[in-house]
Amino acid sequence: MNQVSTSNTSSVILGIGSYVPKKILGNTELSSRVDTSDEWIQSRTGITERRIADNDQSTSDLAFHAARRAIESAQIQVSEIDLVIVATITPDMAFPSTACLLQHRLGLGKVACFDLEAACSGFLYSLDVADAMLSSGRYKCALVIGAEKMSSIMDWEDRTTCVLFGDGAGAAIISKRGYGPKLLGFLSGADGSNPTLLHQPAGGSSQPATEYTIANRQHFLKMNGKEIFKSAVRVMEKATRELLTENDLDIEDVDHVIPHQANVRIVESMAQRLEIPMNKFFCNLDRHGNTSAASIPLALDEAVKKGLFKEDELAVLVAFGAGLTWSATLVRF
Ligand code: UT7
Repeated sequence: MNQVSTSNTSSVILGIGSYVPKKILGNTELSSRVDTSDEWIQSRTGITERRIADNDQSTSDLAFHAARRAIESAQIQVSEIDLVIVATITPDMAFPSTACLLQHRLGLGKVACFDLEAACSGFLYSLDVADAMLSSGRYKCALVIGAEKMSSIMDWEDRTTCVLFGDGAGAAIISKRGYGPKLLGFLSGADGSNPTLLHQPAGGSSQPATEYTIANRQHFLKMNGKEIFKSAVRVMEKATRELLTENDLDIEDVDHVIPHQANVRIVESMAQRLEIPMNKFFCNLDRHGNTSAASIPLALDEAVKKGLFKEDELAVLVAFGAGLTWSATLVRF
């Protein structure tokens, strides 16, 4: 069911960068807008604040700044990039793709650009796809971005969802040539049997926007939090184990885990089930909440900047999201 792959020549991360909007929305300010409390949010999720984009900032604006930082960190010319993948569920518009908008703004050549929609697993799905395209030999250097303006699809009257999400973007430059952390293996999967567990009901072809859909708040994210919580723990544990097995590695070989940043209790449950100590899990969800496709690259960039990874250490990146989708990547530093 899952597609597992290992490249002969590993792709490497030449550079990484991230960007979050300036505005901080703390739990206390949020509790003046909706019936919640700092105590509830912190104890049930681990989140203390999240970043919120300005009205005139779109997903491509967040992605642009993250991409510039990744390009700078990779020390490459923009002319070297020949593939752009943007993972997002909050594109600037239905079409053209956010990747096409970015191509122009970043001053790239007329290279292949597309958006990839795998919700919170989107960035890791995009690494998997980018690696496969680079492995074909037809592409040399990919700009892979996870970017979201989750605040644009939040129902600010629904306390069960609006406290959880935030805005941000993370980007990586991936190539088969050059020096950097190696992408050793990938695993991506999906189970489309229960799509309404986490979805945005209206705005697509099944329910185009009408006065009725707007009045019924159908353009906002809806989630069955309890079911998603249980699936997230089970699926991220399974994906981690399968990816390690496929690459002849054991749980004991793992030095770090960068999990999808949704809820610290999900991470703690995963840690317990995998028997990996919590101090090997990197979390920044306290300051960002769940930024969907931006979650993993935002955490990875922060961990790299903190000097978390020593040479030769192994990290598992693992995510889970709407679809349901999941994806995991092995990185050797
Ligand atoms: O990226 C993947 C997508 N998302 C996730 O991975 C999220 C997965 N789910 C979760 O993280 C958790 O299920 C939540 C944080 C969403 C909810 O936590 P929970 O411990 O499962 O709470 P619950 O849904 O069982 O709600 C417990 C109570 C309810 O009240 P009653 O019915 O017991 O009176 C809720 O109405 O807490 C209430 N509640 C709140 N109270 C204050 C729900 N949201 C809030 C809130 N503030 N923000």
